[in-house]
This record gives sequence, C-alpha cells and structure tokens, in this order.
Amino acid sequence: KVVAVILVGGPTKGTRFRPLSFNTPEPLFPLAGQSMVYHPISSCKKIPNLVQIFLIGFYEEREFALYVSSISNELKIPVRYLKEDKPHGSAGGLYYFRDQIMEDSPSHIFLLNFDVCCSFPLSNMLEAHKTYGGIGTLLVIKVSAESANQFGELVADPVTKELLHYTEKPETFVSDLINCGVYIFTPKIFSIIQEVFLLREDRADIRHISSYESQQFATRSPTDFVRLDQDILSPLAGKKKLYTYETMDFWEQIKTPGISIKCSALYLAQFRITSPHLLASGDDSTATVVGDVYIHPSAKVHPTSKIGPNVSISANVRIAPGVRLMNCIVLDDVEIKENAVVIHAIVGWKSSIGRWSRVQGDGDYNAKLGITILGESVIVEDEVVVTNSIVLPNKMLNLSVQDEIIL
Ligand code: GDD
Ligand code: GTP
Repeated sequence: KVVAVILVGGPTKGTRFRPLSFNTPEPLFPLAGQSMVYHPISSCKKIPNLVQIFLIGFYEEREFALYVSSISNELKIPVRYLKEDKPHGSAGGLYYFRDQIMEDSPSHIFLLNFDVCCSFPLSNMLEAHKTYGGIGTLLVIKVSAESANQFGELVADPVTKELLHYTEKPETFVSDLINCGVYIFTPKIFSIIQEVFLLREDRADIRHISSYESQQFATRSPTDFVRLDQDILSPLAGKKKLYTYETMDFWEQIKTPGISIKCSALYLAQFRITSPHLLASGDDSTATVVGDVYIHPSAKVHPTSKIGPNVSISANVRIAPGVRLMNCIVLDDVEIKENAVVIHAIVGWKSSIGRWSRVQGDGDYNAKLGITILGESVIVEDEVVVTNSIVLPNKMLNLSVQDEIIL
C-alpha cells in the first residue's frame, strides 16, 4: 500500500500571493480552473495501490473541510486534512502525524509541496525508487545556473543517481540540479526525523545549565521544528540512503500570482492530453475559443466574445458581448461588461469591469508588476485602462492607472 502527503503550509506563508490570499488559502487558488492542490491530488490518484491522501497544514480546519469532502467524492479516494497546532517545519509536520499516516501500514509515502507545478511523474519515481533501494528518492530538475539559488541545489552520481551533496538555497553556486519538492520515502524516514528530535532535546537539556543560552536556543531552533531540506536531506546526502529521479518535463515553483498565470497555461496544455473534456472546445461553447481555455459550466459567456489562449473562467462569471480575454484567470462571480479587454491579468472574486475598459499587463511573469491583479470586489468603471497594477480589494477605479499598487 502507498499513501501520499501534501504539505499545504498555513496562513503565515503565502504573503507574496497577496491580495489573492486574503480570503482563500493559497492551495485552493485555481489554476486551469482547478484548485492548486487538485493537480498533485489527481496525479496521486494514478499511483497503483494508493489508499489515502493527507493534506497537512496549519490553516483552520473549516477552510479545508468542504474542499476535502468534495474532492474525495469526485476522485473516489479518501483525502483528509490534518491540522498542526503550530508550524512544525516540513519534516516536523510529517512526523507529527506519523500515527495517522502509518494507519494502513503503507510501504511507501509520497511527500509533495503544494506550491510546485509539474507533471508529477509519481509512478515512474516509485519504479526508480524501488530499483535504487534507498530510504528516499527526490524529484530533481536542471534549471538555469542564475535561478538555481532560489532552490535546494544538489549533486547526484551520474550513474547510480545517488544524492551525494545537498545545500538549501546556497549563496555561492553549487549545481544547476535542484530539488523539485516532490519525494518518496519508506517509513524509515520517521526514525530519521525522530533522531533529529532526540538530538535536539539532548542539546536543549545541556544548554539548560546556562539560562542565557537556552533562551537563545529556544528562539533560534525550537526542539519540535524540523525542516526536511536542511535538517534531513543535507546530513543524509552521500550515505547511500537518498537517490534522485530527474524530470525532463515542465516544473515551476508557484510563489507569485504572475507565475500562476504561467502555471495555469502549463496545466491547461496538460489537460489537452490528460483531460480534454475539461477544456472549452469552441463548437459546444458559445464564444470563439482560441487555444487552451477552461470555462466553468455555470459561467455565462456571450457568443460574440473571443476567449483564449490560456484563459480560465470560474463559477458564475458573466461575459458580455464583444469582450476579449487572453492569458488571464477570472475568479468566481466576476462581471465583464461589453467590449472590455482583459490580457495578462487576474480578476478577483466579485469584481466588475466596465464597458470598453482594459485590464492588462505586459506579461512579464517574473517582474513585480508585469501583470494586473484586481483583488476581491474591485470595480473598474467604463473606459478605464488598468496596466501592470495591483489593486487591493473593494477599490473603485474611475481613472486609468499604470505601474501602481492601489492600496
Ligand atoms: N504543514 C506544514 N507545516 N507545512 C510546511 C511547514 C510547516 O511547518 N513549513 C513548510 N511547509 C510546507 C510548505 O507549504 C511547502 O509546501 C513546503 O513545506 C516547503 O516549504 P518551505 O520549507 O518554505 O521551502 P521552500 O518552498 O522555500 O523550498 C522548498 O521547495 C523547493 C521546491 O519548490 C525546498 O525544499 C527547496 O529545496 C525546493 O527546491
Ligand atoms: P485577432 O483579431 O485575433 O487577429 O487579434 P489582433 O492581433 O488583431 O489584435 P489583438 O491581439 O491586439 O487583440 C485581440 C482582439 O481584441 C482583436 O479582435 C481586437 O479587435 C480586439 N480588441 C483589441 N482592443 C480592443 C478593445 O479596446 N476593445 C474591444 N472590444 N476589442 C479590442
């Protein structure tokens, strides 16, 4: 048997996702019309003998209750949300719920970060992991040398694929091979995390002799906070316990709203192969559809509008005649009025875009202001142009703005 764990973090994380993380936990933000965590969950569903999926985080239970019950029903696999009383770190969170995770006595445990976008080649990873015979296998990818320092950089044996060296976000360049945040472990991982805990408690006891030092220690490194990367992977590298599986497919870390438009495009393109029924086809839909587009069945889209490529339209959205949409994510209950244009933008829940208005960005997804984001319930009046700007919730725009953050 196999189980999967997705680390979803909590409300203190995801600050870079503002203002979109104000009222929805980042893991539930839609990419290609499905929540961010839907994509790893549906990939887990394809693993042979998968019995359960756990989401571990420190969001309030109620924020995930509805989601986990609906996704469990839809995919016919039990998905459970387990809430930590406080952050325990990526390895600490896993360890905290070891009893629940081991309930079905799984032989293997998948561990996935929620904030990565990739094809999740999990079954292939499992096959590779079995041939290596280690405690864990990491999904890795080659990236540009300039961007590698945002991630865990690692060195692997080119023949045996053993993980030889691991450094988390190093200041000086180590390698362009990086950690994708997708792992498979045997249950032995729990005793390894436990050793780290015990070592820490011992040290804390020793330091107790000096009260000054114990205070220092408590703030710097509480005994029940363990990070997977620095505290587990680094010390275990080069000991024939960890191995790597390199993906040649797409991979992105979803840390900003700009990147989420790019990731939405990647997942829509993947739907073309895996779930074409989710894409709007143009003939059954009412509008002119260009490229990969998702339209929620409850959305009302006028036949004279033109939509795509890379557009995702959520529930109860209304699109008026003559509207043009490209490279954008339109969230629930939005109204877009006659002849408005939305390009390289995210339109927040319940917002309204006036006639002949333009909400646009220049499409530099890595720049701070390369797209336009409207927070929840923003009103853009008729004939207003909003370019490369971030607009906080409940604002009303009656003048055009460019390169601004509207607070
Ligand atoms: N439940 C829970 N509790 N989850 C946590 C906690 C915690 O206390 N702390 C972090 N996480 C989750 C995050 O939500 C995320 O899914 C994952 O653990 C990793 O988050 P971070 O520890 O903040 O690391 P990172 O995202 O900056 O970098 C990691 O992922 C990169 C790939 O995206 C590292 O492992 C890098 O090496 C890696 O390249
Ligand atoms: P195609 O007509 O699809 O070949 O697009 P294009 O390359 O001529 O123009 P562009 O990509 O800039 O715009 C895409 C569509 O949006 C075109 O059909 C334009 O007519 C339309 N469009 C551009 N600006 C506006 C506008 O301000 N209002 C409206 N209603 N449509 C616009």
